[in-house]
Amino acid sequence: MPMSSITAAAPDLPTAASPVVTADRFLAGMRLFASGCAIVAARHGTDRAGLTATALCSVTADPPQLLVCVNRKVRAHALISDSRALSVNVLANSHEPVAKRFAGMVEGVAAEDRFLGSDWGTAITGAPILKDALFSFDCRVVETIPTSTHSLFLCTVVDAVVADPDATPLLYFNGRFAAVS
Ligand SMILES: Cc1cc2nc3c(=O)[nH]c(=O)nc-3n(C[C@H](O)[C@H](O)[C@H](O)COP(=O)(O)O)c2cc1C
Repeated sequence: MPMSSITAAAPDLPTAASPVVTADRFLAGMRLFASGCAIVAARHGTDRAGLTATALCSVTADPPQLLVCVNRKVRAHALISDSRALSVNVLANSHEPVAKRFAGMVEGVAAEDRFLGSDWGTAITGAPILKDALFSFDCRVVETIPTSTHSLFLCTVVDAVVADPDATPLLYFNGRFAAVS
């Protein structure tokens, strides 16, 4: 069959105007993607904010870079944009209450009060760093890529602290926090 016939026989290629799946089907699939959990935190001046995040991805090891995807509505977004820095604090299973706090799942906890009840220091970039995280990366934002609801922050890792390599990681799977069994 000539190439032009193959092209002509594929009229339903996805376009931005007609996505292939609905958001619900997309989310139903992504719920089954088990992820590690982290607190992404930032500071600008005296303001601190953080969020529980799973949308993190290693990009390259040389230079050490990762991608962090943050909804523009989230309070930490402005602080990351203004300070051009953030920390990624990967959580152990024992941190489930911290993960719930930074995901806004605990009623009546104001944004700054999310930092109460866990031990935070300051990284080289000035970002808040969780002292007993499984490991923490201190990052500088080198590029911000806007997409529909989120910003993709491409970051260079300037420091890494491994607090407890033997701890069990906290996972998120099918709408729930879970442990590796
Ligand atoms: C397991 C889990 C993973 C999440 N991952 C992300 C993420 O990667 N990026 C994001 O913008 N929000 C993510 N969220 C949502 C934020 O944690 C949540 O909206 C948080 O309350 C935002 O803080 P805010 O109240 O300051 O807006 C996640 C929530 C949960 C429970």
